[in-house]
This record gives sequence, structure tokens and C-alpha cells, in this order.
Amino acid sequence: MTSVHPVSDDAASVEDPLGPAAAESAESATFGEAQFRSVLGHFATGVTVVAALDSGRPVGLSVNSFTSISLDPPLVAFAVAKSSSTWPRIREAGAFAVNVLAEHQEQVSRVFATRGADKFRGLRWWPAPSGAPIIDGVLAWVDGVIEAEYDAGDHVLVVGRVRDLDVTDEGGPLIFYRGGYGRIER
Ligand SMILES: Cc1cc2nc3c(=O)[nH]c(=O)nc-3n(C[C@H](O)[C@H](O)[C@H](O)COP(=O)(O)O)c2cc1C
Repeated sequence: MTSVHPVSDDAASVEDPLGPAAAESAESATFGEAQFRSVLGHFATGVTVVAALDSGRPVGLSVNSFTSISLDPPLVAFAVAKSSSTWPRIREAGAFAVNVLAEHQEQVSRVFATRGADKFRGLRWWPAPSGAPIIDGVLAWVDGVIEAEYDAGDHVLVVGRVRDLDVTDEGGPLIFYRGGYGRIER
């Protein structure tokens, strides 16, 4: 039996991964922005940092919309808000690394969700085969190239082709659930 336990109680300060524009899409809907966020927030996810090297400088953002898509060919996907200032830099790089965060990396998630922050400051990282940054201490990484981008409301849906991947730590994952962080207790 596993259960999710909160690791912090300041969930209210966590940036909503659905972004600020969710309300606009509810014009003719029978629900409001708050209900949309609340209901979808009941879907527990892991947390990743999607990162790339932009002219030799590491860049990245926190992403919980990451998922695997296809084994043959090996494809993964994630959604990025059109308002992201980091995504154009990753797109420009073409190659990216998905960093799967461990339960002790809540602060990493917070920093990589902060627009304009010096996100890699004080972090140790090493290059994936593509050169994209892999952050020290992550559970696993997936190295890929952008295969396709689809317009999806206030987000773009990014499909990536996996070039390499590995597990680097057998610890527990960082969980995002109902706007707060948690971990799995085994
Ligand atoms: C746990 C968590 C998950 C997030 N998931 C996503 C996501 O899947 N897609 C997205 O565009 N933003 C997501 N965000 C918000 C972005 O990380 C944030 O808006 C972004 O990093 C802002 O910085 P930027 O302008 O440098 O991109 C998430 C934030 C948190 C805290």
C-alpha cells in the first residue's frame, strides 16, 4: 500500500501549472476556472525539469505535463504555456533533457517554476549525450529532440523523440497533487 504525504504546507504559494489563462477557455462552459484547476489538480503527477543548452547556457522550466507516448518510435510529450520565456530558448536548442525530480528536490521545482530566476545557480549538472543539462540528484533523465509541436489553446503540445535515457537514482519521486508537493511512502 502506498500513500501520498505532503512535504510542505505552503501549497498556496505554488504556481499553478495550468497557467493564468485557463479562465478564457471557459466562455461557454458550465464550470469556472477555479473548478477546472481544482478538478484537474486531483490528478497526481511527478515533476520534471525540461532543460536545454542555449548558446552554452543551461535553461529549463518545471513541467508536470510530461508523459510517455510511444515505444516504437520512442516518443514522449509535454505541454508548455505560450507565456513561457524559457520555452523559445529550448525550442531554439532543438534538443532537451527531461529531468525526473526526486522527493528531496521540491526547491528545484520551485526555482524552475520561477520566471526570470537564475535557475541553475548553485546547482550541479552534467550534459546528456545531446549536451542538454541533467541535474545532479534526479531519479531519471530522458534525452530527446523536438519531433513536433501542436497548438493547444494557451499551451503548445510538444512531442519529442527519445535519443537516450537512464535511471540515476532509486529514491522516491517528487509528487505534485492538488497544488502542493508530496512524496510516496512505501
Ligand atoms: C509542479 C509544477 C509543474 C508545472 N508544469 C508545467 C507544465 O507542464 N507546463 C508549463 O508550461 N508550465 C508548468 N509549470 C509552470 C512553469 O514551470 C513556469 O510557468 C515557468 O517555469 C515560468 O518560467 P519561464 O518563463 O522561465 O518559462 C509548472 C510549475 C510547477 C510548480
